[in-house]
Amino acid sequence: MQATAIAQPNIALIKYWGKRDVERNLPAVGSISITLRDLHTRMRVAFDDALGGDLLTVNGVPDEKMLPRLSACLDRIAGTNRPGARIVSDCNFPIAAGLASSASSFAALTVAGAAAAGKSYTTAELASLAGQASGSAARSLLGGFVELSNAGDDIAVREICAAEDWPLAVVVAITETGPKPVGSTEAMEISRRTSPFYARWVEQQPEELAVARAAIADREFSKLAAIAEHNCLKMHSVMWAARPPMVYWNAATMRCLQTIRRLQGEGVDVFFTIDAGPQVKAVCLPDAVPVVEAALRGTDGVTDFMTTGLGQGARLETDT
Ligand code: PMV
Repeated sequence: MQATAIAQPNIALIKYWGKRDVERNLPAVGSISITLRDLHTRMRVAFDDALGGDLLTVNGVPDEKMLPRLSACLDRIAGTNRPGARIVSDCNFPIAAGLASSASSFAALTVAGAAAAGKSYTTAELASLAGQASGSAARSLLGGFVELSNAGDDIAVREICAAEDWPLAVVVAITETGPKPVGSTEAMEISRRTSPFYARWVEQQPEELAVARAAIADREFSKLAAIAEHNCLKMHSVMWAARPPMVYWNAATMRCLQTIRRLQGEGVDVFFTIDAGPQVKAVCLPDAVPVVEAALRGTDGVTDFMTTGLGQGARLETDT
């Protein structure tokens, strides 16, 4: 009746932006991500017949805001006539600031919730359950480089390269830790409804996925860098052209981009990507980490940074 799982966030290199079915939370486009190693969410789910409803604590503090989404996820996993659950979530990085905390949270919740309910779902079923809660969460079920594709009426995830087969590093430059102004579901719908670039974004995605897939297969860093930066800037362009426009960047976000451009000019193997938040993720070869860290540390407005390699997918912890 209880289980604990741990999952790491993932960073999309070819982004998921837009839904083809809001009700079922199905993405309009496929995506490719890397699962991180050193940032994590640990979720403990304990079903208890004596509970009238669900209880959630996040980093030791009761949280009612996130609870409905977590409860709905557990309903899909264990059925609506399940007992109440005590959910304890611990996250070692800032929540809701564009660092994919929802991805690691829902991946961990899905794995822990399924085990606590005594269900033995396949990876495809777990991906579907995690994906219904948060599109990007399905990717955190697997490690290394992960591709999420639309498969018929559902989604599918597969590892396209193991973490140890191309051990890239990611330096996350934190420029602000507050919650984001517009949640991703709302922002995706505003983009779909109002951005003149949205249709082209959806149309061009298969080609960009193919380029990234080939670059990963061939371990071609500069090819991956070019397509990932283009895809990221295009996703933000879709949002900038929406009505109302959605700009997740701040001045320090832009300064980080300039820092990364300067490093690239000096021959450093690094590229940037940015999600629905102001943080900049600098993806680099492991040898480049010291120089990338030093450059971002020296960038005005960077308040903190975290460096991590690539890691594995969501899994149960054995001590429960
Ligand atoms: O999974 P969601 O609903 O938090 O959306 C994630 C959207 C991006 O992070 C901006 C892109 C992505 O593919 O992770």
